[in-house]
Amino acid sequence: MSKLLYIQSSPRNERSASIAVAERFLEVYRAHHPRDAVETLDLWQANLPEFDGATIDAKYAVLNGQPHTSAQFEAWQAVTRIADHFKSADKYLFSLPMWNFGIPYKLKHFIDVLVQPGLAFTFTPEAGYEGLITGKPAAVIYARGGAYGPGTGAESYDAQSVYIRQFLGFIGFTEIKEIFVEPTLAGPTAKDDAVAAGNLRAAELAAAI
Ligand SMILES: Cc1cc2nc3c(=O)[nH]c(=O)nc-3n(C[C@H](O)[C@H](O)[C@H](O)COP(=O)(O)O)c2cc1C
Repeated sequence: MSKLLYIQSSPRNERSASIAVAERFLEVYRAHHPRDAVETLDLWQANLPEFDGATIDAKYAVLNGQPHTSAQFEAWQAVTRIADHFKSADKYLFSLPMWNFGIPYKLKHFIDVLVQPGLAFTFTPEAGYEGLITGKPAAVIYARGGAYGPGTGAESYDAQSVYIRQFLGFIGFTEIKEIFVEPTLAGPTAKDDAVAAGNLRAAELAAAI
């Protein structure tokens, strides 16, 4: 039995294009893997620790091989809980809207907490940076109001997928499948059309992941 962790980052619930496609993905996934556990992490409901001064000091203590003070220890425990929970999954599904060409701040907050030395990556002068979350597949659903795909002329504005690819690659992911749900704001039927196309690809990927 495997565990699929679904990380949801639109606050728009039933109006969300990214969530609609994720729901289709999960429906097909469950049909193919009836014994697997599927867990949803809704980042708008999650209680993420602040990435504040004590937490940053704790991170730098790890990087410098220094012991933690008690405040740093406590801050690091909160970060470790998030990372351990993330790493407990075998497969991942992310769904996210494009916000100002990038990602929603709740997802950025999650990434800032998760991407830690010793938990998600390591650094040695010999090998450089190495991701620690390896051998696990991820699927990512990107919803956007405009169109940014090849030939649109807007490719360079897409900091959303570029950043997610870089983040996942940095922490060790090599098997990343993508679903682009776009353009959702280009006319009265745009969202329905984009979701319908996204659902087809979601069903295909969910059966294969
Ligand atoms: C705060 C905010 C910023 C947005 N910025 C962009 C943007 O830069 N480019 C774009 O194409 N769409 C932008 N949109 C539109 C969303 O990407 C689009 O509505 C998408 O379908 C949202 O995904 P969701 O329906 O899953 O929430 C923005 C929407 C919001 C709420």
